[in-house]
Amino acid sequence: MNPCVGNDVVDLAHPDAQASVPDGAFARRVCTPRERAALATASEPRRALWRLWAAKEAAFKALSRRNAELSFRHAAFEVEDGAVHHAGERLDATWFDEDDVVACVVARGARRLVHAGAQLASGSTPAEESWAARELARTLIGELLDVDPAAISVQRPPFGRHPAGPPVAYIDDRPLQGVVLSLAHHGRRVACVVAVG
Ligand SMILES: CC(C)(COP(=O)(O)OP(=O)(O)OC[C@H]1O[C@@H](n2cnc3c(N)ncnc32)[C@H](O)[C@@H]1OP(=O)(O)O)[C@@H](O)C(=O)NCCC(=O)NCCS
Repeated sequence: MNPCVGNDVVDLAHPDAQASVPDGAFARRVCTPRERAALATASEPRRALWRLWAAKEAAFKALSRRNAELSFRHAAFEVEDGAVHHAGERLDATWFDEDDVVACVVARGARRLVHAGAQLASGSTPAEESWAARELARTLIGELLDVDPAAISVQRPPFGRHPAGPPVAYIDDRPLQGVVLSLAHHGRRVACVVAVG
């Protein structure tokens, strides 16, 4: 079975990430009561909030690959003890913290897993962010499988009723079996995780 993997990244310097107040309406919408109790005693509450957010987004990406109809309600995903829990399922979470960045990878069932991030020039467009995330994916997959990155493409084929589903890696236009990738971009940051089952 393919590994279950997802990622997310938050640029803490971005205005979106500045605006939130950990004990405000945003935290009440996104977090469970237990998570809010943890935020109340966190040494860096704003970072702690975005760590929770990133883990929930990563878990949604991981689980929605198996269920195109999965609906995303952040508070239905609970982060506790280094894992994200959703409807009886558990995915291990790993966070990568830098000064102005929070990234998270969640995974289950991966034999090998590689993660990388990159910084873009300020003012990059969404298309440039997507392109940079795919460049990271091609590089990581090339290294992992020892293939030429130029032969790899990343596409989002239709999935269920969605015209574009989760990203899929192709080599010479054939889907790469057993390889699962997840992409994220926010502000000046892009990140990618690739897992092999
Ligand atoms: C999936 C979702 C959490 C992504 O979050 P976001 O804040 O928009 O963006 P992020 O930077 O974190 O991630 C973007 C990347 O996630 C990937 N992605 C999009 N939808 C995805 C999904 N359902 N599962 C896994 N990965 C997904 C894409 O590769 C995208 O990058 P791209 O646009 O450059 O290709 C968000 O779009 C969402 O909540 N969607 C609502 C539900 C939905 O679309 N379901 C679709 C099921 S197929």
